[in-house]
Amino acid sequence: MSSLAKKGQFDVSAKELNLSDRSLEIRWSDGKVATFHYLWLRDNCPSGFHPSTQERLFNLTTVSPDIYATEGKFDQTTLSISWSEEAHKSTYQLQWLYENAYSSDFKKPNTSVIVPWGTEILNDMYEAEYNDLIQDDLALFNWLKAVQRSGISYVRNVPCTDEGVTNVANRISFLRQTNFGTVFDVQSKPNPINNAYTSEALPLHIDLINQETPPGYQFLHCLMNDSLGGESTYADGFKIIDELRKTDPKAFHLLTTVTVPMRFHDFETDIRTRKTIINVDENDQLIELRYSPHLVDTFDMDEKIMDRFYLAFRKLMVLINDPRFVVSVKMTPGDLCIFDNRRVMHGRNSYKAGDGYSGARHLRGCYVDRSDFESRLRVLARTYS
Ligand code: OGA
Ligand code: ZN
Repeated sequence: MSSLAKKGQFDVSAKELNLSDRSLEIRWSDGKVATFHYLWLRDNCPSGFHPSTQERLFNLTTVSPDIYATEGKFDQTTLSISWSEEAHKSTYQLQWLYENAYSSDFKKPNTSVIVPWGTEILNDMYEAEYNDLIQDDLALFNWLKAVQRSGISYVRNVPCTDEGVTNVANRISFLRQTNFGTVFDVQSKPNPINNAYTSEALPLHIDLINQETPPGYQFLHCLMNDSLGGESTYADGFKIIDELRKTDPKAFHLLTTVTVPMRFHDFETDIRTRKTIINVDENDQLIELRYSPHLVDTFDMDEKIMDRFYLAFRKLMVLINDPRFVVSVKMTPGDLCIFDNRRVMHGRNSYKAGDGYSGARHLRGCYVDRSDFESRLRVLARTYS
């Protein structure tokens, strides 16, 4: 979209229209050329959408695959087409066509807002105040953008009540429920069902990699941390994967192509999936890291690749624990950390009672999925950007 079009002014016009067998082509006044396939155009005819929901009603199978335009003409603002079937006519806004053109002249630059980090994040971490986030949508909007950029942020002065963490999370969206509940309490418990519910150290990990889709953003609110140790640790998985991709592309390739079993089980559940440890999209952009030393199940790949795979996995593990990438922060009551659980790993040091410390430690957590987080951000952007 041109910057002017974004502001509602559209300063480009159509110059020339050519109809071919399967598509038409528009030459625009700025020199760009866009091809529009006839099925694409028919499928996007504005008459095929419900006027209120703006969802599609048109059924593509009601026209034949070789439908074509018998006539086409444009004026200052619209393109009109007569179709070879149903005596149907379509009218499109030129601005809409320009904004949705998919030809090479219109390929969008990579607009990723993600900024990977190493230990420098400690001097640079975006912090928000609880009251601001609760009362002010603009503060919320700025915070969500910062959280999306670096995948981590602290909120200060969150009331140390049961609802503190959900009050923050619900400003964004509804919560993701898991087998640990909608909200979970991280405390040392008798007969723990997972290592988090002990006072043991937790190595850096992503939560719930055993789910088909691990939860998106995680919230951990510190209610008590009167312990020796118990510092929180974090590392940006995307920064570490960038390093792996640069220094050992073969290891990166194995970790993006070989699936491994992932599993959590207790008395009531046995939740498994099978996925690659690193996931990228069709443009090789990172989607997620699925790394948890305690939830990857016994590797079962072909014997021909077991050796190479283990070396690649171990290489990733070494990088994950490289001091260049790991930060450590001791949370105090009222602190809340939010992080992108499919990007930023978290862990903690072991903890215990000691001189002047009761040993009590209590974090309360919940999750909001990425798509709901991003939806909130887009809707706020309608007002604030
Ligand atoms: C968890 C977890 C971190 C902590 O509950 O999954 O990683 O600091 N907890 O206790
Ligand atoms: Zn965890």
